[in-house]
Amino acid sequence: MNNTIKHTDYLVVGSGLAGLCAAIHASEFGAVTLVTKSRLSTSSSFWAQGGIAAVVDKKDSYNRHINDTLEAGRGYCNQEAVELLVREGAERVRDLIRLGMKFDRNGEELQLGLEGGHSRRRILHANGASTGKALIDFLITLIRAKKNITVIEHAFVNNLVAQNGICTGAHAWQYEDDTHIEFISDYTILATGGYSGLYLRTTNPHTSTGDGLWLAYNAGAKLKDLEFVQFHPTAFYKNKSTTFLISEALRGEGGYLLNERFERFMEGYKQKELSPRDVVSREILNQIDCQTSDHVYLDLRHLDVPKIKKRYQEMCERLGKMGIDPAIDLIPVAPAAHYCIGGIETDLNARTSISCLYACGEVANAGVHGANRLASNSLLECLVFSKRAVDHAVTSGSQKGSDSNPFIKLNYLPKSKPLFQLVKKELSNLLSCHVGIVRDEKGLHDALEQIGRLQKSLPLNEYDYYSIRSKNALKIAELITRSALLRKESRGVHQRMDFKDKNRSSVPIYHMNDHFETV
Ligand code: SIN
Repeated sequence: MNNTIKHTDYLVVGSGLAGLCAAIHASEFGAVTLVTKSRLSTSSSFWAQGGIAAVVDKKDSYNRHINDTLEAGRGYCNQEAVELLVREGAERVRDLIRLGMKFDRNGEELQLGLEGGHSRRRILHANGASTGKALIDFLITLIRAKKNITVIEHAFVNNLVAQNGICTGAHAWQYEDDTHIEFISDYTILATGGYSGLYLRTTNPHTSTGDGLWLAYNAGAKLKDLEFVQFHPTAFYKNKSTTFLISEALRGEGGYLLNERFERFMEGYKQKELSPRDVVSREILNQIDCQTSDHVYLDLRHLDVPKIKKRYQEMCERLGKMGIDPAIDLIPVAPAAHYCIGGIETDLNARTSISCLYACGEVANAGVHGANRLASNSLLECLVFSKRAVDHAVTSGSQKGSDSNPFIKLNYLPKSKPLFQLVKKELSNLLSCHVGIVRDEKGLHDALEQIGRLQKSLPLNEYDYYSIRSKNALKIAELITRSALLRKESRGVHQRMDFKDKNRSSVPIYHMNDHFETV
């Protein structure tokens, strides 16, 4: 076991789009250390298919994109944040193009896709539905070329050093070579992604367990809106857990949704299959309730399937491996947990409630998604708020940390990995059952009770890696459930069967630390 202390100007935790962009931008101003608990390319951004929504077409307008975002957000967005997102987002996309990022084109023109809730074609893709992969690969190449960015992979950040409301670094354990690292940083930027990986059916990598959220919460930062978990309507269905995303872009190409009687069930809605996600997911659930199978179908057979296969090659190949040919077969789909709107409360400069600690991307809640995220706005958010975080840090004073913080020495205890797997399995069942697309008070109380039972009964060790991951996952599940209980209304992706209306006046903004003790 080794102990080491590393000084850095900017510590970036997480290697999704927000983390990579923050690191690249910060490297213009100082030394950057980028830490990731897995490999550089393991992130939900890497898995993202949908692309980036941006106003790059002359026929489109900022106001249209702003209004579409506000409408999808169900009256709960921070309008100022949305305006920044849309206006600066288009500029950030142009920056990427200038840097050499290749988005799909028809000849010279950018090829723009349509997705749910958008009133115009404005989704940029790269390699069809492999946008996340193309973007992340492109940015990793830039990162590798920067001499002042140090990348540390396979390092689990287990503690933020925050005293008197100021963050001065973090502790991490690089488990492959058993090294404990204390980072002393002027600024720390959390970009650790969401917590959809806690659900049974999810489009996210298994690493999306809300660890960054827990770190911030544990350091005393405010969290917000954790009850808003967005389900993607069309994740491939094989059985209760096997799934992968079937991009909304396919509905943008004209795909139909059919129930088990092969009827189109979205025709009664104004935007039909391209209604916002909360509407489509709920309607799929309604259909499933009235039929024998627990999935519906996406039908592409009436479309130019050879063209679709060419544009969305990777997704069609995956379907092929499952024995599905979209030219002949219907694609079985059902909703899956996809994106966490809730997160660490941040302002327009990605500042958290702790000085020198910033958060951007899915781990943050800057108010841009309201109660229901508009499709393909999440990568845009990463681009905009990662830059804002760095720009703010550059102009603000930092507080130097001391290196006297004791190391927390982590270890692997035998048998604790199966325990973590058990915790994840139990949590994924009970979150999916009681804290899924629809909720009610009884189910939420049941979930809380079961989480509490697990928290009390498990033999968790404070120095064991998997015990800590189990404890974090349980805490995040508890916070999601408590938040869902507190919001006594139905809005966007939070649907309470016992409070069916929107009732804004009675809804406070929940700051978790005002309600619960810090662990
Ligand atoms: C998709 O391709 O359907 C996902 C896009 C997104 O989540 O914004």
